[in-house]
Amino acid sequence: MMRITLAVTGTSGIILAERLLENLNGQDTYLIVSDTAKKIARYEGINLSELKKLAKHFYTENELDADIASSSNPIDAMVVIPCSMKTLSAIANGFCNNLISRAAENILKMGKKLILVPRDTPLSLASIENMRKAKISGAVILPPNMAYYYKPETLEDVTNFFVGKVLDVLDLEHDLYKKWSRE
Ligand SMILES: Cc1cc2nc3c(=O)[nH]c(=O)nc-3n(C[C@H](O)[C@H](O)[C@H](O)COP(=O)(O)O)c2cc1C
Repeated sequence: MMRITLAVTGTSGIILAERLLENLNGQDTYLIVSDTAKKIARYEGINLSELKKLAKHFYTENELDADIASSSNPIDAMVVIPCSMKTLSAIANGFCNNLISRAAENILKMGKKLILVPRDTPLSLASIENMRKAKISGAVILPPNMAYYYKPETLEDVTNFFVGKVLDVLDLEHDLYKKWSRE
C-alpha cells in the first residue's frame, strides 16, 4: 500500500481529483483541499463531503501542524491535481505558507515522486519558469492536455485519460484509457 498525498487547489478541473481518488481506492490517501478549491468545487458541482469520504485522511490548507507537514512522516508520492499557478509558484520557490506547499517541499527534499497537474492557458512566462524550476527540483509536470488519437467521445473519456496519465507515473495499474498501439 502506498502513502499518497493528494492536494487540490483553486483551478478549474476539481473533478480530476475526484476521479483520481476513486482510482486510489486501497491506498493510504492524505487529501488537502485549498480554500479556493472549496469555492471552485461548488461552482463545478463537486460535493466536497463526498470528495472527503474518498480519502483516508483529510486536511485544510491551514493545518501546518499536521503530521504530513513534517518529513519525519514518510510519504511515497504526492499529486497536486489540479495545480494553480499560485501553488506551482509556491512549490517551485520553496514558499511553504500552507500545508500544500510544505508537504510538497518535504516530498522534494526526500527525493520522492511529486506530480504537478498545472491548469491554465495561455501560460505566463512566470508560470513557464516555475514549471522549469519545479522540474529541475524533481517534480513531474503533467498538464491535462488533450489527445485525440484514442478517439474520446465523452467528457468522462477525457477526464479518464488525464487521470490515467497520473496513475501511469505512479506505476499503478488502471484501465482508464486504452494504451497506444498502432494495431
Ligand atoms: C472560478 C475560478 C477559476 C480559476 N481557474 C484557475 C485556473 O484554471 N488556473 C489557475 O492557475 N488559477 C485559477 N484561478 C485563480 C486561483 O484560484 C487563485 O490564483 C488562487 O489564489 C489559487 O489559490 P490556491 O492555489 O491556494 O488554491 C481561478 C479562480 C476562480 C475563482
